[in-house]
Amino acid sequence: MSNKAIILIGGPSKGTRFRPLSLDIPKLLFPIAGKAMIYHHIEACSKIPNMSEILLLGFFQENQLSSFIESATKQFKIPIKYINEVKMLGTAGGLYHYRETILQNQPENIFVLHSDICCSFPLGDLLRFHLENQRICTIMGTQVSKEYANQYGCLVRDENTLELLHYAEKPETFVSNLINCGIYCFKSQFFDQIGKTMNDIKAQQQLQLQQQQQNLIEYPEIIRKGTATENLRLEQDIFVPLAGTDSISVYLYNGFWRQIKNAGSSVYCQDLYFKHYREHKPEILKSGENIIGDVIIDPTATIDPTAKIGPDVYIGPNVKVGKGVRIVHSIILDSSEIKDHACILYSIIGWSSSVGPWARIEGIPNYTPFLYKEDKRKGITIFGSGAQACGEVIVYNCIVMPHKQLDRNYTNEILL
Ligand code: GTP
Repeated sequence: MSNKAIILIGGPSKGTRFRPLSLDIPKLLFPIAGKAMIYHHIEACSKIPNMSEILLLGFFQENQLSSFIESATKQFKIPIKYINEVKMLGTAGGLYHYRETILQNQPENIFVLHSDICCSFPLGDLLRFHLENQRICTIMGTQVSKEYANQYGCLVRDENTLELLHYAEKPETFVSNLINCGIYCFKSQFFDQIGKTMNDIKAQQQLQLQQQQQNLIEYPEIIRKGTATENLRLEQDIFVPLAGTDSISVYLYNGFWRQIKNAGSSVYCQDLYFKHYREHKPEILKSGENIIGDVIIDPTATIDPTAKIGPDVYIGPNVKVGKGVRIVHSIILDSSEIKDHACILYSIIGWSSSVGPWARIEGIPNYTPFLYKEDKRKGITIFGSGAQACGEVIVYNCIVMPHKQLDRNYTNEILL
């Protein structure tokens, strides 16, 4: 039995809410808990027996991903390949267009993972469930509180047969608090189903076109908007019509899960990974006199012994941290410098940035699960790469564009 995994990585046009950090690096490579966002996915895939290949499907320039792919391939000893989608084909359109590559060597089980999620990736349990239930597709679902459910794909499952009865993508009214996690397991026959759906949509569009030409449609605005037929969405175009046809099972996952939509959400996701590491891989967390809670520090960083770090802090390669510095719930990226007695809370300090002595850089945490609805009064403070804060300034709940110099205090602003 052979298995394969595909990670849907999108492309530059999909990472806009991740700015200013996605200006320097594709969103999927941004470090969360010290590892690239999709490293966590790849690590989980690598633990599945007989995983023959991991494919990254998206529309980034190949050279932006090549060194990551090379080093992950070496580390996990599994072929990792990039499929460069010619144009944005949608979450199902790309899978179908490249089906021959995906189905090469006849994998029996095909995992498909969204790149912009964080969880414990229980792929082994998902696979066991998928094999037991024998449907052509299994969706991993999790329960969220009722008030946030309609911001996600909502699932209704039959509690006896575990079949997906109904799927509603971001419904206007409450449907269910069981939501789609963006992790699936397919049998190869699922690709035939995508093909059938695509043909149905084509036929429907053809009919609409003919009717339009004959002026038979009074309200042309109801026609499915401006998509080439190849652009297909897994959720709306495939799961919605397939629900209730005994084709899809829903696996219930009870662990942590978050979407990583905007840059600030990586701080919350990092906290979740750290908690997971504390239970499952405590050896990768740093300990020491001035280390509080869960912290990862790259071995090439220089930290003054009087600096107090943590909880929930990642410090990247070649960072310098001065005397008496305090850092809490933050991500400090490569080659930045945090000078003496500066204080950083709930912030991301971008690559090669600097924070002057006695400066205070602070965000306001917002722990709601629905992280990408912007609430302007709350947010992680983010420094784009090369930003500089002078000594003693206070920067509170701000987004700072790359290379900006801050020589006074700022609150609740986007600093261009
Ligand atoms: P939004 O609320 O609009 O973000 O919807 P969503 O949370 O359902 O996410 P979306 O469907 O946009 O993306 C889910 C995953 O698929 C992400 O990891 C995207 O990067 C990826 N993705 C989205 N569109 C495409 C596409 O056309 N091609 C590929 N290869 N990946 C895509």
